[in-house]
Amino acid sequence: MTLIDDARAIRENAYAPYSGFKVGAAIRAKSGAVFTGCNVENVAYPEGTCAEAGAVAAMCAAGEYEITEVAVVADSPHPVTPCGGCRQKLAEFATSHVPVTLATLDGQTEIMTMAELLPGAFGIKHLGTS
Ligand code: THU
Repeated sequence: MTLIDDARAIRENAYAPYSGFKVGAAIRAKSGAVFTGCNVENVAYPEGTCAEAGAVAAMCAAGEYEITEVAVVADSPHPVTPCGGCRQKLAEFATSHVPVTLATLDGQTEIMTMAELLPGAFGIKHLGTS
């Protein structure tokens, strides 16, 4: 099973009654373990959460904090890219070389690195505390 397959499978559990746009995300952590997430919308729209955020939370809950690979899947006409906020959430645990596979349900895929998704990322170096 590939990381895309994991993202496709968890996408089925997305709760997206308002947008109708189900998203699945899968993260491989440093140990090799895979963590998944789906978007969970809310009637108070801004309270909804993205698939990537769910996958990141599951990874941290398992005590892992290093991402080696990411896959995101949606039923989109174009390979779906993480939203801006999710790029920052992924960048917290993924170095600039980490590959992010963007996929559609009909099998289109595109691979981008974290650096391509979030150039000039705000990071710990900007805090100037270390
Ligand atoms: N969504 C994600 O889960 N991940 C993304 O990176 C893009 C957007 C969700 C949020 C919302 O539930 C739906 O897709 C439509 O924006």
